[in-house]
Formats: sequence, structure tokens, C-alpha cells
Amino acid sequence: MKILIVGTGYVGTTTGLVFCEMGHQVTGLDLDDNKIQALRAGKLHFYEPGLDVLLRKHVASKQITFTKDTEIAIKENDVIFICVGTPQGMDGSADLTYVKNVAETIGSYMNQYKVIVTKSTVPVGTADLVSQWVSDKQTTTIPFDVVSNPEFLREGSALHDALNPDRIVIGTTSETAGKVMRQLYQSFTCPILETNPKASEMIKYASNSFLATKISFINELARLCDLLNININDVSAGMGMDHRIGTHFLRAGMGYGGSCFPKDVSALIKAAKDHKLPLSVLESVVNVNDDQPLYLIDKMKTILGEELKNKTIAVLGLAFKANTDDTRESPSLVLIKRLEAEQAVIRAHDPIVTLNNLQQFKTVEETVAGADVTVICTDWDAYKNLNWSSIKPIMKQPIIIDGRNMLDKVQLESLGFSYLGIANH
Ligand code: UDX
Repeated sequence: MKILIVGTGYVGTTTGLVFCEMGHQVTGLDLDDNKIQALRAGKLHFYEPGLDVLLRKHVASKQITFTKDTEIAIKENDVIFICVGTPQGMDGSADLTYVKNVAETIGSYMNQYKVIVTKSTVPVGTADLVSQWVSDKQTTTIPFDVVSNPEFLREGSALHDALNPDRIVIGTTSETAGKVMRQLYQSFTCPILETNPKASEMIKYASNSFLATKISFINELARLCDLLNININDVSAGMGMDHRIGTHFLRAGMGYGGSCFPKDVSALIKAAKDHKLPLSVLESVVNVNDDQPLYLIDKMKTILGEELKNKTIAVLGLAFKANTDDTRESPSLVLIKRLEAEQAVIRAHDPIVTLNNLQQFKTVEETVAGADVTVICTDWDAYKNLNWSSIKPIMKQPIIIDGRNMLDKVQLESLGFSYLGIANH
């Protein structure tokens, strides 16, 4: 089938390449010339392990092409995926400006029946809005259907997730569009849930919100486990053995960040508020998450004293999690902001992220030099695999606060480090 992907960001590029793998012919459309040029040259404009290999393969075979020509792209493709961003608006709701622009453009240029699919995470009711926006711009009535087909991939493992989804959700009430979508996904072996667009849109928000809830639950419990001297990792493991609970997303740490969980949880809370319904569980999830990076400061103060002014803090990791260069809503940055407010001296490191306005170093060794305390903020393998015994003499004080519970406490203590994790007793 011929597919048009509108928006060649993270989700759009991955989705397009996965459809190439399934034998479909894909066109990627973007208004940003730099992105188009880079993608045509087989270069990703974002960091995602393994995806560039697939990009080069399908660019070379012309299974995927990239264009800026909106009119031709819309006329030549009958299945159009909307994969543009839905950033968080000032009031917490999702900003649909880009989705609206795409829908209106499709309405203006469409020449025959189209299946228009929303892949971007969009609020409940957006499929109806997209229909309206498309119709509003049509000069003659041409039939089309709008389908909700949310994406569940994670940054850092986008390709694996998109090729091996747990489920595919198709939200449509149209027989014709349903058939097209089933054909599109016929090579996938996972279950396909067919429902209406609103339920499909809600499934995405509910899934992300539930995963965020698991994380805040375990993080708050970790604070209690700290007080009771209980290892939270053992608690997570024991809970996870119950299939009804599951092992995933029970890793205590610095809280969730990224471009999805914070935004989607807020959007769901806002949507409920619009209906005068407080989602008190999710409100607590947000509160716990907002506090979690600062919990590390409390730990720091138990060692360094209340006054952090002029104390040197080495921060290892800026990305919101490993294997991405994304720092959006990164707990690491929340921590740094508070440390700066307390006039601590920050020395930062990340294997791939470089930020302005931050004293950042190329190596961990340079970063920890003279540090009063070293804080692990991102779960990069590079930090796990460090030779900590050779690092120790460089530090002023061999103190590690492990915000990801990723280092071996027993080994570090045997090397003479003071180690504090998140209820990692
Ligand atoms: C998430 C969803 O997993 C994905 O389905 C959706 O499509 C987009 O949002 P992503 O934001 O890429 O994906 O990251 P994810 O791996 O889910 O992690 C989110 C945050 O939670 C990270 O900050 C991570 O470090 C944190 N996390 C995750 C924990 O603190 N503990 C855990 O047990 C799991």
C-alpha cells in the first residue's frame, strides 16, 4: 500500500520505516527542509539507536522517499498518517495547532477517498475535530474516514517497540477504513483491538497514565522503605512476580520524564477538569513525580549538611533516560535547577547530550574531579560499566547518590565509597 507520513519526527520516521519493513511504499512529508535533506541522505535528525541503518536501507531501495511538496504527496497517497507534535499548552492540555494545520491541508488538496490516521497522541474527541477541519476546507465533498491508531513506542527502543508491539489499536466506525487498516497491519502477529476513535484515543492516555502511576507508586513507597530500611528493588521484584501486577515500570528512581508521560498525564487531568471531574489519583501521581528528583537533595543534605552553597556536585546524566538525547522534563534538570538555586557548583556529564549554560565535561573523570558528591541521574550503561575504583581518588569525597539504583552498592562500599540509592538497602 502507499502511505503518506506527515511529520518526520520521532514517531513519524519510525512508523514510516516500520511500514517499509512490512513491504509498503512510504512517503515522508515535512515542511522543514533541513530534516528532509538529512533524511534523504540517510541521516536521522534525532538520536535513536539502530534506526539509521533501516533508514539507509529503505532510502537506498526507494521504499521510502521524503518530500516537502504537500499537494502532490496528499494527492498521490490514499492513507495519510498524521504524526506531528502535540506539545503541552499553557493550561496542561495538548496543543492541536499542528494537527489542525495538517487536517486543513488534507481537506484543501484531497482529490479522492482518503483514510486519515492520527498517530500523534491526541485528546479524546480529536478524530471528530479532524473530520470537521478536513470537511471545512473541502471545496467539493469527497469522502474520507478518520482513524485513531495510537503509537506506543519508547524512545531508545523505538524500532524494537514499533516492530514488536504488544497490541495494535484501531479506532474507527468505518468498515472501509477498518479494512484498510487491517491490511496495513496484516504482517503483525500481535492482537489487534478494534474500537471507536474516542476509546482508542483514551487507551493511549490511559496506558501512559497507568505506567506513570506505577512509577509514582513505587517511588513513594521507596521513601517509606528508606525509613524502614527495606530494599525497594526486592519489593518490586516480589510484587512483579504476581502476573496481575507485572514486573515492568516498578523501578524506583528519580521519577519519570520525557516527552510523553508528563504531558499525557497533565492532558488527561486537564480533560477531566474540563468536565468538572478531579482525577485525584493522577494528581497525586504528578505531585509525587514533581518531588522525586528533589528527594535526592534531601539525601545529599543528610551527608553534606543543610547548606549546599559552594558545594561541588557532579551530575552524571542529563537525558531523561538512557539511550536518548532527549532532555525534555528530565528529572536530572529538575535536580540541577534546585541545586543552582541553592548555589551549589554543578559539574555535569552526559555521554551524548550537550547543554548550554552548564559546566559540562567530556569525561566522567573530569566531571567528578573535586566533587563533594556524585549523583547518578541517568541510567546510562556507561556509568554502570565504569571502573569506580580508579575514579575514587579523583573525587574529593567518595560519595555516590544513585538516583537510578543502578550501581552495585556492595561492591562500591567494599571499595570505600559511601553509597546512597533510592531505598537501595
Ligand atoms: C513512554 C511510553 O513507554 C511509550 O509507550 C509511549 O509511546 C511514549 O512514552 P518513553 O517516554 O520513551 O515512552 O520512555 P519510557 O521508557 O516509558 O520511560 C519514561 C520515564 O519513566 C523515563 O524517565 C524512565 O526513566 C522512567 N521510568 C521507567 C522509571 O523511572 N521507572 C521505571 O520502572 C520505568
